[in-house]
Amino acid sequence: MKYKIITFGCQMNLADSGLLASYLNGRGYQPAESEDDADLIVLNTCSVREKAETRVFGRLSELAGLKREDSRKKIAVVGCMAQRLGERIVRDAPYVDIVLGTDRIFDLPRYVENGSDIPAIHTEFGYEDIEELVPVRDNKYSAFVTISRGCNNYCSYCVVPYVRGEERSYPVSKIVSQINALVGDGVLEITFLGQNVNSFRDGDADFPDLLDRIARETDIRRIRFMTSHPKDMSDRLIETIAREPKMMPHVHLPLQSGSDRILKMMGRVYTFSHYFSLTERLRAAVPDISLTTDLIVGFPSETDEEYRMTLDAVRAVMFDSAFMFRYSVREGTAAAKFDDDVPEKDKIARLVGLINLQKDVAFEKNQSEVGKIRSVLVDGFSRRSNNILKGKTGGNKTILFDGHEELIGTIQKIRVTSADSWTLHGERAE
Ligand code: SAH
Ligand code: SF4
Ligand code: F3S
Repeated sequence: MKYKIITFGCQMNLADSGLLASYLNGRGYQPAESEDDADLIVLNTCSVREKAETRVFGRLSELAGLKREDSRKKIAVVGCMAQRLGERIVRDAPYVDIVLGTDRIFDLPRYVENGSDIPAIHTEFGYEDIEELVPVRDNKYSAFVTISRGCNNYCSYCVVPYVRGEERSYPVSKIVSQINALVGDGVLEITFLGQNVNSFRDGDADFPDLLDRIARETDIRRIRFMTSHPKDMSDRLIETIAREPKMMPHVHLPLQSGSDRILKMMGRVYTFSHYFSLTERLRAAVPDISLTTDLIVGFPSETDEEYRMTLDAVRAVMFDSAFMFRYSVREGTAAAKFDDDVPEKDKIARLVGLINLQKDVAFEKNQSEVGKIRSVLVDGFSRRSNNILKGKTGGNKTILFDGHEELIGTIQKIRVTSADSWTLHGERAE
C-alpha cells in the first residue's frame, strides 16, 4: 500500500506527520510520489485560523476527483481539524473515509486495513504513547522532538486547547532515548516542541532540568525549543541558555499585541512592560540572542491606537523575525463571544503595515550580523545552485555560502558578509 501525507499547520503537525510516516513504513506501507499513485492519502490538518481550514477543504475537493476515478483509494483527515469538526468533515466531504483526532492519528492503519466500518470517525482524547520511532524528515541533520502535548492556557482567541486537549509531558527517560535514536540516525540538532515548553514537568524535573540532562546525557550537538509562553519564562531557563553551549541562542516568545488592554482581553496574563523586561534579561544574559515572535492584529475592539502600540512594541524589541496574523474568530473560544468588529479591510491594512515594519526591522537586525562569525549547521545546497551551501546559524537564520558537498552535515564557522531581511550570505572563516 502506498501513502501520501499532506501536512498543514505548525511544526508539531510536521513532527507528527514524520512519525506517522515512520510508523507506516514500519508496517510495510510505502511512500508514494504523489497523490495520483497513492492508495492512501492523509491530510494532517490545522484549525488555528479559518483560512487554514478553508485550505484543507479546498484540497479535499481536489481529491474528490481522484476518488471518483478510483474508489479503492482511501482518504484520511487527521489532526486538529479532524478533532474539531469530527463527522462534520464527512458531511461536507462524503468521500472522506477516515477522520482521526489529534490523539488517534496512530490508529490509522487499523482503519485502513479493516475497511468495514468506513467512514471511521474517532476523536476521543487520551491515546498516549506509541513505540519509539525515528521520524521521516526532510532535513537529515535536524529533527523535532515533541516533549509535551496539549495546552491549558486558554488564550481567549485560540482553538489549540480544544483540539489538542489537556497539557501532558513525556517522561524525561523517553525523551533521552528518543534523542539517542535520532543521534544514531545522524541528527545533530533537535528542536523541542510543545505549545508551551516552559511548563514541561516530569516528576521533579522541570524544563531547565530537562535541557540540562539532554545536554549532559546525550551526544546531540545543538538544542532548540519552541514555543515559550512569556508568563513561564524563568530566570533559571535564561541562565541555562546562557550557560550551556549546546543551547542555541534563539527564543521564540509570542507577544501577540503591544497593548495591555488587548493582552488582557486575550488572556495572556502579562503586560508589555513585563514582556519587554524579559527580552532585556535575555539579551543581557545571551548578547547575540535571536528573538522571534507571533503577533495578531485586528483582535475584537482593537483601536488604531492600540494597533500602533503593537508597531511600537516591534520597534522597541527589534524582533529578528515574526509570524503575523489577522485575527480569525474560532467557534467555541472565549473571544468568539466578543464582537469581531474590526472591518476586514482594516485588519488587512494593519497586517500589511505590520509586515512592512517587521521587514525593515529584520533588515536592520540582519545588518548587525554582518562581520560576525557564526557557527552554522550546514544542511544542504541552496535551492538555486549546487555550488552554494545553506545552513542555519545558532540564531536560526538561514545563511548561504560557497562550499563543497562534503561540508553538508557538519558545523562550520561562517563569517557573515551581507544580509537582506530574510537571508544572510557569508564565507568560510578558517
Ligand atoms: N502555543 C503557541 C502558539 C500556538 S498557535 C503559543 O502559545 O505561542 C500559533 C499562533 O497563531 C499564535 O501564537 C497566535 O499568534 C496565532 N493565532 C492563534 N489563534 C489565532 C486566531 N484565532 N486568529 C489569529 N491568529 C491566531
Ligand atoms: Fe493557544 Fe495560548 Fe495555548 Fe498558545 S498558549 S496554544 S496561544 S491557548
Ligand atoms: Fe498546530 Fe494548527 Fe493544531 S497550529 S496545534 S496544527 S491547530
